[in-house]
Amino acid sequence: MYKFIIEGGQKLKGEVEISGAKNASLALIPATLLANGEFKLYNTPDLRDITTMSQLMRSIGAKIKLEENTLTVNTKKIKKFEAPYELVKKMRASIYVLGPLLGRYNQAKVSLPGGCAWGPRPVNLHIEGLKKLGANIDLQEGYIIAKTKGLKGADISFDISSVGATGNILMAATLAKGETRIQNAAIEPEITSLAEFLVKMGAKIEGIGTNQLLIQGVDELKPTDFNTIPDRIETGTFLIAAAITKGNIKVVNCIPQHCDALLYKLKEVGCSIEIGENWIKLKGNDIIKPVDVTTAIYPGFPTDMQAQWMALMSIAEGSSVLTETIYYDRFKHVPELIRLGANIDVNENVAVIKGVKKLKGAKVMSTDLRASASLILAGLIAEGKTEVLRVYHLDRGYEKIEKKLQKLGANIKRKYYQEF
Ligand code: EPZ
Repeated sequence: MYKFIIEGGQKLKGEVEISGAKNASLALIPATLLANGEFKLYNTPDLRDITTMSQLMRSIGAKIKLEENTLTVNTKKIKKFEAPYELVKKMRASIYVLGPLLGRYNQAKVSLPGGCAWGPRPVNLHIEGLKKLGANIDLQEGYIIAKTKGLKGADISFDISSVGATGNILMAATLAKGETRIQNAAIEPEITSLAEFLVKMGAKIEGIGTNQLLIQGVDELKPTDFNTIPDRIETGTFLIAAAITKGNIKVVNCIPQHCDALLYKLKEVGCSIEIGENWIKLKGNDIIKPVDVTTAIYPGFPTDMQAQWMALMSIAEGSSVLTETIYYDRFKHVPELIRLGANIDVNENVAVIKGVKKLKGAKVMSTDLRASASLILAGLIAEGKTEVLRVYHLDRGYEKIEKKLQKLGANIKRKYYQEF
């Protein structure tokens, strides 16, 4: 197992390149199951979650390899239609094979997901949507057993906006007979990029980028090549790294428009920000002003940036309120930040952060991907040495994060260790 050892106190300076978006890639890869042939997915990030998705695709019969961030997928020999518990438990996004397998092969057996640990993360919207499209769905021994004589277009309206359910239904609908309308569809950039990929494969989709999608089913889709969009959460994480260390960095190969809500809040904190075509410059401010945030669906403040924001607010000049509206109890990072000296009170889905003068280094435990990122950010400014344990959580979603931080001047190194 690996940990990061961080000596706090360096102001980050210089330029950092953003990798492809994990959450775009995790939808694009299963979408290749909708057509027969070879695909090239460029700018695919080299992450543990991509490795897990590749293992799942191989178990289904696809050939898949990642070389220099180009993922080559061949779906000519799909022979199984199952996503086993062992893989789905490791990564909730495995459920993304459900829609494509049903749409193309009329059958799928997918374990109910595990995923991160913030309360129940149901998949009722995925199941109800697929039933509307004509799938028979049984839940047996922890598996979703889905079968159909052929999906038929339908009117589907989600009670709440769900990225995964929108992705699954959208993929299944591309090969369903007739028209499907999805109301209250998620409009996260990763879903927009999935829709664009499907259109490039020959799907007929209107309303891309809006929360009402109209899909005319087609008989067949074709393989194609595609570019993965940059990761807006990695972008935001590095912007906060510059803000929290009062540094001065340029983030390149990103899409500034995907980060509007965060950029707005960082300006309120006192950061100076300049944006270009595919870059963002951020200069931190000596005083970090306390700024309240409420997470929301896109284009609101992303829940995947909530933990990182909390690290920044922990050394603000005053108190701020952070309200998490997407997940129940996505606050596993709070006790660890408190170990570093933060002053945070949580009441249900609201955290009140009282800024402190400084944090002090300590041993802290990663609990999930974005929580680990917040501990790294806190460690960058904590006095002395911080050890962040179980960084396999981070390796799920951040490509070469310690190398990128070292290049910006951070004193961080990865070290192997054994937990008793
Ligand atoms: C995607 O997860 C992302 N993962 C998550 O990023 C992100 O936090 C989330 O969207 C919200 O933006 C991927 O794209 C692989 P949802 P997803 O369905 O699709 C409830 C990261 O850090 N819900 O939009 O699973 C659900 O419980 C990860 O990169 C139902 O009630 O999220 C949650 O409260 C973490 N029933 C809310 O909707 C359902 O059937 C939003 O979930 C589905 C979801």
